Amino acid sequence: MIYFDNSATTKPYKEVLHTFTKVNEQLFANPSSIHSFGGRVEKLMQQAREQVASLLHVQGKEIIFTSGGTESNNLAIKGAALRYRNRGKHLITLKIEHPSVLNAFKQLEEFGYSVTYLDVDESGKVDPAMVEKEIREDTILISIMHVNNEVGTIQPIMKISEILQRYPKVIFHVDHVQGCGKVPLEMKHSRIDLCTISAHKVHGLKGTGLLYKRDGINLSPILTGGEQEANIRSGTENVGGIASFAKALRLHFSKTENDIKKMFDIQRYLRDELEKLDEVIIHTPKADQAPHIINFSVKHFKAEVLVHALDKHEIFVSTTSACSSKQSKPSRTLLSMGVPLEIAESSLRISLSFENTLEEAKQFLQVFNTEINSLMKTMRRSK
Ligand SMILES: Cc1ncc(COP(=O)(O)O)c(C=O)c1O
Repeated sequence: MIYFDNSATTKPYKEVLHTFTKVNEQLFANPSSIHSFGGRVEKLMQQAREQVASLLHVQGKEIIFTSGGTESNNLAIKGAALRYRNRGKHLITLKIEHPSVLNAFKQLEEFGYSVTYLDVDESGKVDPAMVEKEIREDTILISIMHVNNEVGTIQPIMKISEILQRYPKVIFHVDHVQGCGKVPLEMKHSRIDLCTISAHKVHGLKGTGLLYKRDGINLSPILTGGEQEANIRSGTENVGGIASFAKALRLHFSKTENDIKKMFDIQRYLRDELEKLDEVIIHTPKADQAPHIINFSVKHFKAEVLVHALDKHEIFVSTTSACSSKQSKPSRTLLSMGVPLEIAESSLRISLSFENTLEEAKQFLQVFNTEINSLMKTMRRSK
């Protein structure tokens, strides 16, 4: 099997599974219970929190564990919008954000908030000057993704962060789900107030994530209840998930610059080889792109046809982001980049992990070429 769909999800590390099982077998008490068993579980959870915080160079009290990227994005956006609504009701984001961001904003519009959805250029990047231009007296929140999940473009977060030094009242949220562990992001010494990370994109388990919340920023809780996670995210904690998330992050962050370079080498190799084919149009930009994503269209063919053709060979790629792919909608990101609809409809995404090899890329290309040739023949015959 060649698994090239790591932006959809990654394979959990063995150590992660081991930690999850061990915690759930041996330390299954509720961390809120006042008996000593609960106390041991609470201690383990706090250790995991400190570990994660130290990897991210932030404080333990700034970490809120959640059920994943979707929840963290919802908590950041709705939580900030509700908490700071007396300051204003204007919000800014990008047209190419993940649905967990866009749909949170759409919902806030129904409650009287006004949202500016910024355009991106042909490489998928927002112009920081455009962000500044849209800031108004009543702007309370800006949410910008770090790495786009469909094409891999890196947004100029640090430049936006510098601009926002002049707007101390505006809350800045970054969706770091796709960048985490692959594209560095400094939270502590930037203007980032809120930052989303999901465990299953870094070889952790589905259903675990976190929101970094800078000390001093307040959020209205979205899930109310037993006041866990400093009363910002109620619900009995998924301690096995949290401990295994800390393990996944530690392993993921132990990857070196050389490992990242290897990923870039595979990406470059795929790009160079795919560029040789007349039918292929590459959408991932050549600069300011993450190492793990390469998005391209194959003219004349619907993306689904190609996904299924590769699937027969146990090669797994994706049409667009995993959540919109089943809805067969063309990529919003590509359309925003100015890619014509017909081309956007035939786009494929390869997304790598540190486990993928150049050998797999070679095998993929062999199969891909054969399948394209055979599909072309069929198409010519049917004309
Ligand atoms: C950029 C981005 N944000 C948020 C999410 C949602 O994360 P989760 O699957 O943990 O809810 C994803 C998942 O694909 C993503 O790619």
